[in-house]
Amino acid sequence: MSNQPKPPPQHEGVLIVFEGIDGTGKSTQLQLLAEYLRQHGHTVVTTKEPTEGTYGRQIRELYRNRATVTREEELEMFLRDRRDHVNTVLDPALSRGAIVLCDRYYLSTMAYQGAAGMDIADIAAKNDFAPPPDLAFIFQLRPESSIARITEHRGEVPNDFEQKDYLKKVEKIFNSLPFSYIEYIDADHSIDTVQRTVRQLVDWYLSAGTAKR
Ligand code: TYD
Repeated sequence: MSNQPKPPPQHEGVLIVFEGIDGTGKSTQLQLLAEYLRQHGHTVVTTKEPTEGTYGRQIRELYRNRATVTREEELEMFLRDRRDHVNTVLDPALSRGAIVLCDRYYLSTMAYQGAAGMDIADIAAKNDFAPPPDLAFIFQLRPESSIARITEHRGEVPNDFEQKDYLKKVEKIFNSLPFSYIEYIDADHSIDTVQRTVRQLVDWYLSAGTAKR
């Protein structure tokens, strides 16, 4: 893919994003990492996309029935939510030098809207306003296991974004993204084991200033 988002505007902070299909445990891992970093004296901001703002709420309405909007409109909603998020949360926190932990970001747009048939290079180009992550964890789990976790543990019925065949396509795109800031993590282990890996990679990044590849 040639059309990658532009290089980062210079900021003091560190942007770490948590990605992967639904049910991989990324939100739990994010919270545990936030605790760890705070205990070590870092200023940490935790945040998520879709956001809790106006556009994020519109997107959650969508979960119930995606058929009510076109793919183009759906992509536009995620972009609008992200623009607002970058301006009001991410940029200010990064300029203050915080470590920002973000649950989903534009890699999700590439994977999910790409799986819905949108052009991935075009999605990348449309996200060029968003600061690239310094580190992106992509948590990997077979879609069968992820759906089992959603239904058994959370007692939820998979929504339109969570159907198996669709998640398989999403997973395939996540596994093929070419960015050097990506670290793939096997999510099919205990929470503690996965968290140990996450912490090692973040410690490495904070001391070396680069992803471990
Ligand atoms: P999720 O992390 O499950 O949010 P919550 O737990 O708060 O409901 O994300 C919701 C869904 O949105 C998820 O299935 C992936 C999808 N999504 C996209 O399709 N594109 C995007 O750009 C983002 C950020 C999320």
